[in-house]
Amino acid sequence: MRVLVNDLGEPDHRGRLSDEQVIALYAAPSLPWLRVNMVSTLDGSATGSSGLTGSINNEADHRVFHLLRSMADAIVVGAGTARAEGYRPTDRPIVLVSRSARVPERLVGAPPGAVLLATVSTAEHLDEARELLGTEHVLVLGSHRVNLVGLKEQLVARGWTNLLSEGGPHLLRDLVDQGAADELTATFVPRLVAGTHPRITDGPPLDVPLSLRLLLEEDGTLLGRWFIGWGTST
Ligand SMILES: NC(=O)c1ccc[n+]([C@@H]2O[C@H](COP(=O)([O-])OP(=O)(O)OC[C@H]3O[C@@H](n4cnc5c(N)ncnc54)[C@H](OP(=O)(O)O)[C@@H]3O)[C@@H](O)[C@H]2O)c1
Repeated sequence: MRVLVNDLGEPDHRGRLSDEQVIALYAAPSLPWLRVNMVSTLDGSATGSSGLTGSINNEADHRVFHLLRSMADAIVVGAGTARAEGYRPTDRPIVLVSRSARVPERLVGAPPGAVLLATVSTAEHLDEARELLGTEHVLVLGSHRVNLVGLKEQLVARGWTNLLSEGGPHLLRDLVDQGAADELTATFVPRLVAGTHPRITDGPPLDVPLSLRLLLEEDGTLLGRWFIGWGTST
């Protein structure tokens, strides 16, 4: 893995990057910070033949995916992704975002506090979620849409200031739309898949500029950090 663009003020490195160097290059510039990490093919597909990310991601993406997890205080994920990708409890708290409050099967029975849910007061499965996760682990943030800035504030109040979202496409779009996301961290794998697949964003249109801060390359795979918003100068 080598550095192609580095506009972070971090020292440049030559040769293969160590894990410590990659971690330094991905450090949050300030806290609190919420980054969203996604992977895409060069023709813009967020999934491959399996309908999941496992059929498009590769070793370089895996490496950064796991290093970003190791740096995060909590992982914020859309319920759709948690269901599709079969999320299980991990060593970081998982914060599910769901309008229905339906807890994905593989997260049922997680140790108390390993899974939090951010949902709305009108959620169909709210009572069930409270029973499964514990009332204190269910955050009601709005009546019809989850207030994602409010969610970030609640997580920060728990001491979780370095936040990683792993998507999916609807959640990424909404985090950007509501101004809750600070950064898009994206991997572009050198593959074309055509067909009908989601992109890394989904939902109503938006148009938000991004500012490239870092670009790494390994065997044709590009891994970058883009800060979100107009005139981001951090
Ligand atoms: N390429 C990548 O990096 C990447 C990353 C993640 C996922 N994916 C792929 O994306 C696909 C899933 O796409 P998706 O768009 O359905 O993922 P998603 O955004 O994780 O899931 C959508 C669902 O999550 C909940 N949700 C998301 N945003 C919400 C919001 N703002 N407020 C309330 N609830 C919200 C809702 O759950 P309820 O239905 O429970 O209300 C919604 O139906 C899968 O195929 C997965 O493999 C790709």
